[in-house]
Amino acid sequence: MTDAAAQVEAAKKALAEAQAALAAAEAASASVAAEAQDLLEKTAEPTTAEPADAEPKTAEKPDPVEGPLTTAEVSAIRDGYAFEGEVLEMGALVNGDALVDVPVRIPIAMLNRHGLVAGATGTGKTKTLQVLAEQLSAAGVPVFAADIKGDLSGIATAGTSSEKLLERTDSIGQDWQPAASPTEYFTLGGVGTGVPIRATVSSFGPLLLSKVLGLNDTQESSLGLIFHYADTAGLPLVDLSDLRAVVQWLVSDEGKPELKNLGGLSSATAGVILRELISFANEGADAFFGEPEIDTSLFLRTNAEGKGIVSLLEIPGVNDKPALFSTFLMWLLADLFNDLPEVGDIDKPKLVFFFDEAHLLFKDASKDFIASITQTVRLIRSKGVGVVFVTQTPKDVPSDVLAQIGSRFQHQLRAHTPDSAKALKATVSTYPTSGYDLGEVLTTLATGEAIITVMNEKGAPTPVAWIACGRRGGRWLRLMLR
Ligand SMILES: Nc1ncnc2c1ncn2[C@@H]1O[C@H](COP(=O)(O)OP(=O)(O)O)[C@@H](O)[C@H]1O
Ligand SMILES: [Mg+2]
Repeated sequence: MTDAAAQVEAAKKALAEAQAALAAAEAASASVAAEAQDLLEKTAEPTTAEPADAEPKTAEKPDPVEGPLTTAEVSAIRDGYAFEGEVLEMGALVNGDALVDVPVRIPIAMLNRHGLVAGATGTGKTKTLQVLAEQLSAAGVPVFAADIKGDLSGIATAGTSSEKLLERTDSIGQDWQPAASPTEYFTLGGVGTGVPIRATVSSFGPLLLSKVLGLNDTQESSLGLIFHYADTAGLPLVDLSDLRAVVQWLVSDEGKPELKNLGGLSSATAGVILRELISFANEGADAFFGEPEIDTSLFLRTNAEGKGIVSLLEIPGVNDKPALFSTFLMWLLADLFNDLPEVGDIDKPKLVFFFDEAHLLFKDASKDFIASITQTVRLIRSKGVGVVFVTQTPKDVPSDVLAQIGSRFQHQLRAHTPDSAKALKATVSTYPTSGYDLGEVLTTLATGEAIITVMNEKGAPTPVAWIACGRRGGRWLRLMLR
């Protein structure tokens, strides 16, 4: 048999196995079957399309391990991810095939050193987030995440196991227990069914509000003066109309002398801010501000069995208010920071906060805004809160924030345009050296695969590893996805 024929044979076998898994899943549950079917289609395509005379890919490799890494490099990864304390199982090393005896993990104690999950759309970021969140909850760590497209709601439902699946997960040394995480829903501005999340205008503050209103630097500092004026004059800023009233008064004939006294606030700028506030309110933003303000300590709870509560924030219509959504997440984080006591480094975070669509937060952000985020992210660690940013490329995150990040998951990146090729190059340059040609590997990762490096218990980065993500990890996933 030629190598190509052998490859086709192997692919057929993989397809047959996937079909068997599908049949088992169908018997067990309709939802699992749908997922398997989806994955099966991805498997079937390259298999049947592969011409018989295709270039054999692995024929030249002399090493018994058919992958980019040598046996020594594989051992280094095995050792690099063996930790003493409690861990999250992230999946298995991929070296040609998935190596089920090389599990890749994150020490739970290091999660307050923050994380980044990056990758193009549809490459497995949300799934990775789910893998993290479920295990954190099971380990007693509360989780906060925004459920943007409703694709995280699966956390609340136990996965379905089938005999076939359990056979497989057992055989790859993974103990797969279908279990639902205790979940509670929150909703921005009270649209929807969850507990409404609102902020008072004064606690939201001028910096975040300027970001939401799209103000420039001059307008931003003017808004700061207006907040300061309201504060010293003892005028409470609860909802948007309170703020509007203050600005209106400052630009009125009676208010003009006060405006002058403020220094640095022109009536033209005050007029612009007023117009922005009015149109913001006309878009329905009033619903997000006011009392009662959410008590962020609600996100720090565990249930009676000691599982961490997963707080899911539903985002109605985020597409038309992206800036509002991301600044609200930032406000929640800042509020948590203000309320929580110092705890230093602990064996488990008090909360892990997933910051989805993080690029929206940093896009068009002022210097002051970025400086304040960087500060919060740096300091919140000692309050036991880990932040995991989820976005397309690390380039979306300012370098000062990136420098605080301990664990990184990079799913597939695309390099079709000059811009994305540049982003790829920039991403590669931020990784420690490894046995991989990362520029090549990052563009060829399958869905659910990632390049990972985390912070070990001594605070040093672990070896860069190519993994198949998921507790069901290893062989099963790979057969399904390839
Ligand atoms: N590790 C994985 N195991 C199984 N299926 C996965 C895995 N990662 C992603 N998928 C599937 O791939 C699709 C896209 O994944 P998703 O996490 O939504 O991508 P993203 O959030 O990056 O857009 C989904 O249908 C998901 O079920
Ligand atoms: Mg997603």
